[in-house]
Amino acid sequence: MAKILVTGGIGYIGSHTVVELQKVGFEVVVVDNLSNSNVEVLSGIEKITGIRPVFENIDCVDYVSMDRMFEKHSDIVAIIHFAASKAVGESVEKPLLYYRNNLVSLVNLLELMPIHKVQNLVFSSSCTVYGQPDVLPVTEDAPIKPALSPYGNTKQIGEEIIRDTIHSNASTKSIILRYFNPIGAHASAEIGELPNGVPNNLLPFVTQTAIGLRKELQVFGDDYNTPDGSCIRDYIHVVDLAKAHVIAVQRMLDNRTKSSVETFNLGTGRGLSVLEIIRTFEQVNGVKIPYKLVARREGDIEKVWAEPSFANNELGWKATETVEETLRSAWAWEQNYAQRSKID
Ligand code: UFG
Repeated sequence: MAKILVTGGIGYIGSHTVVELQKVGFEVVVVDNLSNSNVEVLSGIEKITGIRPVFENIDCVDYVSMDRMFEKHSDIVAIIHFAASKAVGESVEKPLLYYRNNLVSLVNLLELMPIHKVQNLVFSSSCTVYGQPDVLPVTEDAPIKPALSPYGNTKQIGEEIIRDTIHSNASTKSIILRYFNPIGAHASAEIGELPNGVPNNLLPFVTQTAIGLRKELQVFGDDYNTPDGSCIRDYIHVVDLAKAHVIAVQRMLDNRTKSSVETFNLGTGRGLSVLEIIRTFEQVNGVKIPYKLVARREGDIEKVWAEPSFANNELGWKATETVEETLRSAWAWEQNYAQRSKID
């Protein structure tokens, strides 16, 4: 079966995608520099699928090592490029780290692809490119707003780099996937979100508070123009998101793409507030989340949720997991991880 390179394949979305790729028979090579991931995740993947993916500990910024990796795995037919830094706050403090990590790695891949006769690239982008949309739900042709952080800017520039490159080189094709807010974990609870240090994102903070690692959750802002005053996002189960990558890869390999660059929103189409997430988490899991309403977080968008019809109709993909099931899976993962850490 065809061999797929997954950069950042040990990370949160990457690892769930590796599982889905292996499940349908793809062979996977993972490139990851372990900068925000733990090599043990490979064992989690192996437990689920029975297959340990080939792992190359390489930084995608390192052109020479990437070149050698492509020589070694000369039968790679497509790349899913997750490897990137993704903490919004850190990107404001260390912009050059973000521009280097996120853009140089992409440029390296785009340069190496024609050399090694790889034509297909799936790129991880984000709903951050829309900023605060004027119209909700947001469609793929909504205007791109000025980025609010260097991180967001790397996703906008990344998309432009891909479009410009493909415009100049007919052999490369790409599917750009704009993620909304991935949460939850694999149903086995063998893999899940495992941030280093204090979590920036909502769900790992919620689960770590529930298990007692954090005293209380801070809800950033209660005076937004939303029904309960907290921000609204489109939370999507990470496994639903992972499955979209498999479909995107297959679409490119089957030559079913309608243009050399296609862009899709990956969301559920439903917006939920921070307080709704907390309430639902408490209900479905029977645990209390101590929380405090605090000031707004700088750079937060008030409300955003996806119009996923284009992905639904064109990719034949739809997010199917309920938010209740998703929040259950997040809690099961946190508990399983805590249990395992005690044993180790
Ligand atoms: N939130 C809290 N408390 C927390 C963490 C988050 O109230 O401790 C709130 C945020 O203010 C926001 C919502 O929960 O309203 C979701 O926040 P996340 O940080 O989980 O997600 P974001 O929507 O801010 O971030 C997402 C992606 C990022 C991407 C960003 C760009 O997860 O990778 O969109 O806007 F950079």
